[in-house]
Amino acid sequence: MSILVTGGAGYIGSHVVRLLLERGQQVVVIDDLSSGLSARIGSAKLVQIDLAAETATESLVQLIKAESIDAVIHLAARKQVGESVTKPEWYFEQNIGGMAHLLEAMRQTKVERLVFSSSAATYGMPDVELVNEDFDCKPINPYGQTKLIGEWMTANAARAWGLRAANLRYFNVAGAGWPDLADTATMNLVPIVFAALDAQKNPIVFGDDYETKDGTCVRDYVHVLDLADAHLTALDYLERDQRNHSTFNVGTGKGASVFEVMSEIRRATKIDFDVDVQPRRPGDPPYLCADVSRIKNELGWVAKNNLAEIIDSAWQAKLGSN
Ligand code: UFG
Repeated sequence: MSILVTGGAGYIGSHVVRLLLERGQQVVVIDDLSSGLSARIGSAKLVQIDLAAETATESLVQLIKAESIDAVIHLAARKQVGESVTKPEWYFEQNIGGMAHLLEAMRQTKVERLVFSSSAATYGMPDVELVNEDFDCKPINPYGQTKLIGEWMTANAARAWGLRAANLRYFNVAGAGWPDLADTATMNLVPIVFAALDAQKNPIVFGDDYETKDGTCVRDYVHVLDLADAHLTALDYLERDQRNHSTFNVGTGKGASVFEVMSEIRRATKIDFDVDVQPRRPGDPPYLCADVSRIKNELGWVAKNNLAEIIDSAWQAKLGSN
């Protein structure tokens, strides 16, 4: 029996893979290595399949049978919000097309357990401080739309042929569980600030005139290792006969402002930098923080690491990779 992890060579996926391997599980990774790195997956088997290709369903069916796959964790997706706005068709083709092929292959092979990588981007601009899973989702970009449609797809498959799925809505993921699994992309706040410091530039703060505690946007930063652990917890949950929900926020329930993140980075790096405040970035909600009651009550999962631990681990990993 093996677990199939799509996108397993990526930043988040490789943390999931390592925890599964530590648990003694057989793991098969599908990754097109467009942003993933094969060195991250340890002893897991790597198969390069483009999930969006027309032939993907057939390749997946063969792989699932050959490797006796009995559950899937689906992380492979395009995930750049800005790019999704300029290339919406491609995002739908990649994220929705890829997922349709995967679900069809699971249906044909009767693999019924799926943990799906969803996102807090499904919420759009919630006007509450802590958003819960019943909030009316109104994603404001194609990336968030593809994640919400992905959740609809799992719900439809559950009705049609008995798929058992857990959709995990990730909040702001950062940190590193192991130095070699650091986030090497500079797409999110923490790695962007590190890159600015490397270049001896002041990091940028997008807007300090929001109606928040210090005027900067507040987010729920979750340690990537905690997030990876939530996948394993969700996988176990899918074994149960009685499951009341299929969608779960994965965050800490505690918000941190951009200024607070900057302070933690000053502390961890011992670099006393200034920031350049620039105008607001379009599409940024002032608050995006998780109500984590559901995942705590139903799955018994809580994040163990706080913001300081997230930043420390990210910085240690960054130093290790220099
Ligand atoms: N920010 C800055 N300066 C920067 C970069 C970011 O001030 O140089 C601010 C942003 O304005 C935002 C916060 O830092 O307020 C976090 O920004 P990120 O770009 O790191 O993350 P987002 O909150 O925009 O989005 C992230 C992921 C999405 C996911 C979302 C869910 O990139 O894919 O979290 O919460 F959907």
